[in-house]
Amino acid sequence: MKELIIVTGGTGYIGSHTAVELMEAGYDVLIIDNLVNSRIEVLDGIEKITGRKPLFEKLDLCDRQGLTDCFARYPTTRAIIHFAAHKAVPESVEKPLKYYENNLLSLINLLNAMKNHGVRYFVFSSSCTVYGQPDKLPVTEESPIKKATSPYGNTKQISEEIISDVIAAGDAIEAISLRYFNPIGAHPSAHIGELPLGVPANLVPYLTQTAIGVREELRVFGDDYNTHDGSAVRDYINVVDLSRAHVVSINRLLAGKNAQGIEVFNLGTGKGLSVFEIIKAFVNATGVEFKYRVVNRRDGDIEQVYADTTMANKVLGWKAEIPLEETLRTAWKWEQTIRNQTG
Ligand code: WQD
Repeated sequence: MKELIIVTGGTGYIGSHTAVELMEAGYDVLIIDNLVNSRIEVLDGIEKITGRKPLFEKLDLCDRQGLTDCFARYPTTRAIIHFAAHKAVPESVEKPLKYYENNLLSLINLLNAMKNHGVRYFVFSSSCTVYGQPDKLPVTEESPIKKATSPYGNTKQISEEIISDVIAAGDAIEAISLRYFNPIGAHPSAHIGELPLGVPANLVPYLTQTAIGVREELRVFGDDYNTHDGSAVRDYINVVDLSRAHVVSINRLLAGKNAQGIEVFNLGTGKGLSVFEIIKAFVNATGVEFKYRVVNRRDGDIEQVYADTTMANKVLGWKAEIPLEETLRTAWKWEQTIRNQTG
């Protein structure tokens, strides 16, 4: 009998890649998703890779009764990985209540359902955005949590506090919070990847859309930062590497190896790369040139952040392994694939 893991937001970018890694590690997966920011066809992509379709329930986690009824239909559920959330930073500034209501109510409903149905193990999708602009780099899990620079980032901070408080109250829940740096790339099969829904805010999807001709040019948001080449620095991590960290986290929880309280891990490569370095790496990796132009900084952007990955490497027992140029080739292959599909 395979252990059943619920993956909320599992038709999304990181959720779908995690569903694949879980299934390939021998778990059964139930995806719960309301499909507001993803497509049901992602299930076909997962099936093409793994040879089987995950279980699926179309459901909004803000629907408390619906979620309770869903949990009752899957009494063998062993753990939850919670991705489902709104995650567009600029939109969260324009519509804070949409973000606070959706991201926090979903989490609260989920934690209540877990308590009421005896599901003990929880992996939370968090973000390096909780650190803001760190004073010291690389940033560790002990680095100060700065005042959030967006309602989106604040929902991640508040969510981690809610989980900690629930555990401290003695509720039978054990949790791992994974703070992602900048996820990029796609599954090497190109059967799943980051869906191009609307105009991408993130660098790599905008870059590949420019390279394939969907966008006129890539704007580089500022070259006057105090970094080695003036462009902003981030820690770009392959989405498959990132997804494998979730399987390792589930294995850790189910084996009872996690410490008391909520465990937090930074998921990055430990290496900071600038926008110009990403551009150069893409051209080296694919041979594809494209137009880019330096413009003003983007409001809300921080100058540089990259992870100290010691805890993830030594305690969690996970390390990012896929090289940058291979990652960028998977992003390019995905872009070419969806353009053939979507014309
Ligand atoms: C990366 C770098 C931009 C687009 C965001 C969220 C974070 C997480 C990851 C959810 C920056 C520059 C970008 C472009 C550019 N998401 N850039 N031209 O802002 O580091 O993080 O996504 O958890 O919470 O904040 O990622 O990819 O938007 O930007 O020059 O068209 O690329 O200025 O330096 P970011 P990003």
